Amino acid sequence: MVLNFAHRGSLTEAPENTIPAFKKALGHGARALELDVQLTKDNYLVVCHDHRLSRFNKNVDGLIRDFTLDEIKQIEVGSSFSDKFMGVTLPTLEEVLEICPSEVLLNIEIKNIPVIYDGIEKILINRLEYHNRLDHIIISSFDHIALKKVQEIAPDMELGMLFYYRIINTWEYARDSGLRISSIHPNNVYTNKAFVENCKALGYKVFPYTVNNNERYEELIGYGVDGVFSNNPTLFVQQ
Ligand code: G3P
Ligand code: CA
Repeated sequence: MVLNFAHRGSLTEAPENTIPAFKKALGHGARALELDVQLTKDNYLVVCHDHRLSRFNKNVDGLIRDFTLDEIKQIEVGSSFSDKFMGVTLPTLEEVLEICPSEVLLNIEIKNIPVIYDGIEKILINRLEYHNRLDHIIISSFDHIALKKVQEIAPDMELGMLFYYRIINTWEYARDSGLRISSIHPNNVYTNKAFVENCKALGYKVFPYTVNNNERYEELIGYGVDGVFSNNPTLFVQQ
């Protein structure tokens, strides 16, 4: 069965990776969400795609890791999207877990390139364990060393291997990595039929990102992908 992920929540309807964006996606009936995690100076997991805050609040520069959680919670990130969202702040991972029913599949992407968050993998697993949310979670990353660390800490965790660039025989790279990968997450621009078939022959699910266009979506489904990451509500609820 195809399972599409609402990418950073419903980011066309609310500020990306925020509680309103996740609520919008859940309100549409999304069965899978994608989010990005980073670490504050005091080692709290906050949900944000960029290392810097300047795209969301032009009056604030600096890296997430340079702010404590208290400071992050003083920074408004909603009004750059629309005045309707004035006052919205970056959520913690916990705040997303609270509003996300446990039957909704969560893809948590560790943002750690360049490597600036020492120990983020351990903190993430610790938080998921504490909240009893180790199931129905995929941990993904472009940083494959981060995935290795997750596997060492939590060998049963589902892992998704992200690729930005096309590399020769991605599926063999995944197989030979020594990681127990359950899915390959390629950039959709180079995902073709042979790519999907080769991944699936080795037992990997394939979830390309980020697919917003209906025609391309149908093409990828025809190749046999297991789902996509999408910003488009008509796609991420089409499951
Ligand atoms: O996980 C799929 C996708 O989110 C990866 O790219 O840059 O949107 O985090 P990015
Ligand atoms: Ca992401």
